[in-house]
Amino acid sequence: MTNYHGAIFDLDGVLVDTARYHYLAWKQLAEQLTIPFSAEDNERLKGVSRVKSLDILLSLGNKHYTEKEREHFMEQKNKVYVHYIEQMDETEILPGVVELLKQLKHKNIKIALGSASKNSGIILKKTGLRHYFDAIVDGNDVSRAKPDPEVFLLGAKKLGIPAGQCMVFEDAKAGIAAAKHAGMLAIGVGTKSNLPNADRLVESLEEIELSEL
Ligand code: BG6
Ligand code: MG
Repeated sequence: MTNYHGAIFDLDGVLVDTARYHYLAWKQLAEQLTIPFSAEDNERLKGVSRVKSLDILLSLGNKHYTEKEREHFMEQKNKVYVHYIEQMDETEILPGVVELLKQLKHKNIKIALGSASKNSGIILKKTGLRHYFDAIVDGNDVSRAKPDPEVFLLGAKKLGIPAGQCMVFEDAKAGIAAAKHAGMLAIGVGTKSNLPNADRLVESLEEIELSEL
C-alpha cells in the first residue's frame, strides 16, 4: 500500500507527446525569422514556459526584438500550436497513462494536473482525460515557472493533500526540481541522463507499480 494520497501529473511529455507540435509551431516562427532551429534544439524547450522558450529560440539566432514584437511572436506561435492540438484525440495518450489513472482512482488517490501550459484545457478535452482529474493547475494559474514549486504546491492545496503525501510525474529536469522543492516524491519519466535527480525513474508510465511507491 502506498503512503501517497495525491498524484500530480505534468502534461506535455507525461500524458501526451505534444513536444512535436510545439516543435512544428516554433520551427515555423524560426523559419520566418531565419533562425536555425533543429529537433535537438527543441529538447531545450521541454518543460520551459512559453516566454522562456521564445528567449531560447531568439538566442539561437542572436536576435533581439521589442516587448511588443515578442508578444506578437508568441501569439503567432500559439495559434499554429493550437491548430495542431485541436486535431488531437485519445490515440495520442501515452502508453500506461489511462491504466495508471484508473488504478489511482481505484485506490482513492486524488489526481491533479500540474502543467506549465496555458493550453491544458484543449488537450484534456480532446483526449478525453479531463474527467480523471480532481484539480487542474496550469500556466494560467501560476506566476512562477518550474523549477519553482508553485504549480505543484497549488495542486496539492487544491486536492487538500499535504505536499509530503504527493507524488509528481514529470519528464523535464525543471519539473523534477520543482517537485523536490515542493517536498514531493519526484518520479521521472525518461532516462537517468536526462533526469539524474529524480527519486524514481521509469521510461514509461506502463512500468509504475503503485504498491512499490
Ligand atoms: C510545457 C511544455 O508543458 O508547457 C513547454 O513542456 C511549453 O514546451 C510550456 O513551452 C508552455 O506551453 P503553452 O501551451 O502554454 O505554450
Ligand atoms: Mg513535460
